[in-house]
Amino acid sequence: MKPPHMNTRVARPNITAPAATRSVAGAAQRAPARPAPKAPTYAVQAPQPLGAGSQQIRATIQGSPQVAGSVEISRAGGGKAYISNLKVDQQHRRRGVAAQLIDAAISTARRQGFKAASLEARPSDNGISPQALIAMYRRQGFQSVGKSRRGSPLMERKR
Ligand SMILES: CC(C)(COP(=O)(O)OP(=O)(O)OC[C@H]1O[C@@H](n2cnc3c(N)ncnc32)[C@H](O)[C@@H]1OP(=O)(O)O)[C@@H](O)C(=O)NCCC(=O)NCCS
Repeated sequence: MKPPHMNTRVARPNITAPAATRSVAGAAQRAPARPAPKAPTYAVQAPQPLGAGSQQIRATIQGSPQVAGSVEISRAGGGKAYISNLKVDQQHRRRGVAAQLIDAAISTARRQGFKAASLEARPSDNGISPQALIAMYRRQGFQSVGKSRRGSPLMERKR
């Protein structure tokens, strides 16, 4: 005797049906889709001194020491903090890691008594365009205040 599942007649897709209907019929034949693997969540670590008055904040994968991205803060003069070297590993991009790191850099600067935070908006690879980078910092409350010697926008955010 055939096992019960072999007695089940699977309907073929109706090839005369419109495309949208066909794909639904086709989907009915396939095994149920496996749930997509969960994207990791991230933990922002306390700032670590790097030497020469600089500090680094890292975002690690939740529950692991693996670093997904980092940012640095140093003293810029005039009571301002300077945010630099923001970077996120390719495989962790577009998951809000940079946004979390910038938030952490701003609150660290505020907690340490800086009255403003400044940065140079300059992509260091082709993962993001200069325009998208500026837009990202604007959404984080930074405003353009001039240009660096290299011609990139200098941006600032009051505490
Ligand atoms: C710039 C960089 C740090 C962004 O890191 P990220 O973790 O991917 O950024 P987030 O996921 O936090 O993105 C925050 C927002 O920025 C914008 N953004 C980020 N990457 C973008 C891209 N490639 N194109 C367009 N917008 C982008 C989006 O609005 C995004 O929000 P959304 O994903 O909800 O639309 C990352 O691309 C990187 O490491 N680049 C190389 C280093 C670099 O150029 N650093 C900047 C130094 S000033």
